[in-house]
Amino acid sequence: MQKKRIGILTSGGDCPGLNAVIRGVVKAADKLHWEVIGFIDGFEGLLPPGDYRILDRASTSHIMSMGGTILGTTNKGHFVSKVGVGEKAVVAPEIVEKARSLVEKLRIEGLIVVGGDGSLTTAQQLFEAGFPIVGVPKTIDNDLEATAMTFGFDSAVASVVDALDRLQTTGTSHKRVMVLEVMGRHAGWIALYGGLAGGANVILVPEIPFHYDKLAEFIKHRDYAGKLSTLVVVAEGAKPEGGQEVYQEQSKVGESRLGGMGDVVAREITARTGKETRTCVLGHLQRGGAPTTLDRILGTRFGVMAVQLIEDNKFGQMVSYQNYLVLGVPIADAVNRLRHVTPDSQMVATARAVDICFGD
Ligand code: F6P
Repeated sequence: MQKKRIGILTSGGDCPGLNAVIRGVVKAADKLHWEVIGFIDGFEGLLPPGDYRILDRASTSHIMSMGGTILGTTNKGHFVSKVGVGEKAVVAPEIVEKARSLVEKLRIEGLIVVGGDGSLTTAQQLFEAGFPIVGVPKTIDNDLEATAMTFGFDSAVASVVDALDRLQTTGTSHKRVMVLEVMGRHAGWIALYGGLAGGANVILVPEIPFHYDKLAEFIKHRDYAGKLSTLVVVAEGAKPEGGQEVYQEQSKVGESRLGGMGDVVAREITARTGKETRTCVLGHLQRGGAPTTLDRILGTRFGVMAVQLIEDNKFGQMVSYQNYLVLGVPIADAVNRLRHVTPDSQMVATARAVDICFGD
């Protein structure tokens, strides 16, 4: 009797915790005497002749603490199904058929897709085309609906906090305004959580359009009060009231790259307050390095539950973290509905209660 065989691929931007998912999948599958195939570079590995390798306990040993993904990933290629906010593209039928031929040839009875909004949109298309898909939500941005948290987020926030701790010492010593631009795309979760935990004085998020005048007024007031340095966290997707987001690169394939708002804010602060201001763009440091404890645990739980969903034939579902439990929800409910920071949430109110200014 041939062993049941399942596949796994990681797609979209990498993030800490992906290897914990892979390890969790392999261990849970091994207990069921299933074989696991890891596809290389996301969905691209599904294209004939196929780029894949067998994953077993030995090849996935000691990977949990490693950042990135041992399988490689891409947010470009033949399977891109997201070309901007809310804009979907359809994966070409001939590409779907090529992937199908490989999945059938390899006798894959369940395919675990670990990805964010874009990759899960592709996963849903493949599920609708008849592939035995199970999803695992991943993104440092924490902006997916239908799960209270994605793994990778906590690790990204930890690097923001570390950066703020470091920037604070220069800010205080030189009496400067220190601006830290963080990732998160069109959601302000990384900025909000990182800023709160890192002692930021100002947090600018996409969900709360800000006013430069209010920002300048706040910084001047701090000066009068003898607080001569100010820590400002700017989400890459933040924008002033009536203004636009700043992009580093507009892309025709996949999502355009945000970036540069930190510098714009810093220039405006100097112009309006006369304060010496410096910008630091944290960039991909937020996506690298070892996952935090929480991300290792969440990743492991997600991987184990993904195998469970296959065992229960719950295809078209993705794992989801809700009320301390990991369970399955339809992928269709999770994609194309980004989860945003709610301006009147308790989290924002808590930040305001500890004197954090949102520039509104
Ligand atoms: O979605 C994760 C993310 O890190 C975003 O926060 C960021 O805007 C984007 O990916 C960067 O993408 P890339 O690695 O393609 O530059």
